[in-house]
Amino acid sequence: MHLEKIQVEDFRNLKSVSVELHPELNLIYGDNGSGKTSFIESIHYLGFGRSFRTRKPKSVISLGQSVFTVYGQLNNDNSSIPVGISKYSDQRTKIRIDGKDIDRVSDMVKLCPMQLYTPQSTELLTGSPAFRRSYIDWGLFHVEQSFLTDYTRFKRALTQRNALLKNTQSGKIELDFWSNEYIGGGLIIDEHRLSNFEKLVPYITRYLKQFLNSFDVQIDLYRGWDSSTSLQDAVQGNFEKDRKFGFTQSGPHKADLRLKVDKKPITEFFSRGQLRLTSVALQLAQAHFLKDTKAANCIFLIDDLSAELDSKARSAFMEAVTNLGSQLVVSAIDKNDFGEFYQYENKKVFHVEQGEVNEETY
Ligand SMILES: Nc1ncnc2c1ncn2[C@@H]1O[C@H](COP(=O)(O)OP(=O)(O)O)[C@@H](O)[C@H]1O
Ligand SMILES: [Mg+2]
Repeated sequence: MHLEKIQVEDFRNLKSVSVELHPELNLIYGDNGSGKTSFIESIHYLGFGRSFRTRKPKSVISLGQSVFTVYGQLNNDNSSIPVGISKYSDQRTKIRIDGKDIDRVSDMVKLCPMQLYTPQSTELLTGSPAFRRSYIDWGLFHVEQSFLTDYTRFKRALTQRNALLKNTQSGKIELDFWSNEYIGGGLIIDEHRLSNFEKLVPYITRYLKQFLNSFDVQIDLYRGWDSSTSLQDAVQGNFEKDRKFGFTQSGPHKADLRLKVDKKPITEFFSRGQLRLTSVALQLAQAHFLKDTKAANCIFLIDDLSAELDSKARSAFMEAVTNLGSQLVVSAIDKNDFGEFYQYENKKVFHVEQGEVNEETY
């Protein structure tokens, strides 16, 4: 799967952009403030249904406008699928796939597996466990048919249970009911994560070896509670605490991915550069796993390459993405910043200037 064409309207400073992308490599360069990140952000909407810069879609709509639209033409085994998303200032979202109106953003997201790499990507390792849960769950969402439904059910039970815990008036029968729902739903999520993690680890190990050869990184999945007890016992054991805080203390919503070198968390051991390589390795592992499991190709977006990877890492990244057959869209301020990527022949180069994106002939 790759993106053949992208059309963007009233998206930040991009008034009206229409470009045909290269199935392999796309290099996007332009001055600060020209619209590079906005362009990457618009493509990201097709793969995630949201921005990576803001929680408020309204701030993405061009000033003075009331709606933005991102339209893409996906190519899957030589057949074209048009997909589009519009976000209105009154919060409405409109999704179209193949000419039909669709209710769920997830239907579009499912069609466009994407990985995004930005200067902030080391948050995957240094940030809260929520980043790492999203990482794990991204793969589950794309690979496991029932994951989204199961996850929605689990989250609903968690929300209900937390609301009851906060309310001192709530009755035991109701609380027991939602606690059971929560445990039941939680065990399903836990099972998905455990079985997926087991399959993903060899891919992670392989890419870590490639990018950080001399380190032996141990990876563990923390399930969200002390796994020497059952989830049921953990939840029962925490009941008084849960009541006190008005929040369920343990369970899959607390899960985490733990990476260590010599028993030390990598965040305390690795340099900034090594953490970058680790997040690249993790992303490539998901893409490769998805490809082997669903024969689906993931699109890689890299924003602001210049600030990021050194020459050796760029070559290794390019080689890995090429081997996977993934499409790559990379932005940088200057053409020179692309380094090794620029040597690659099968590519298109685009110049961004004041919100306009133009293909360069060279
Ligand atoms: N909602 C908006 N409407 C119009 N312009 C915007 C909006 N949000 C941001 N911008 C502007 O878009 C321009 C491009 O930003 P950005 O894509 O981050 O540039 P780059 O990544 O090339 O440095 C900036 O000048 C920014 O102020
Ligand atoms: Mg930028």
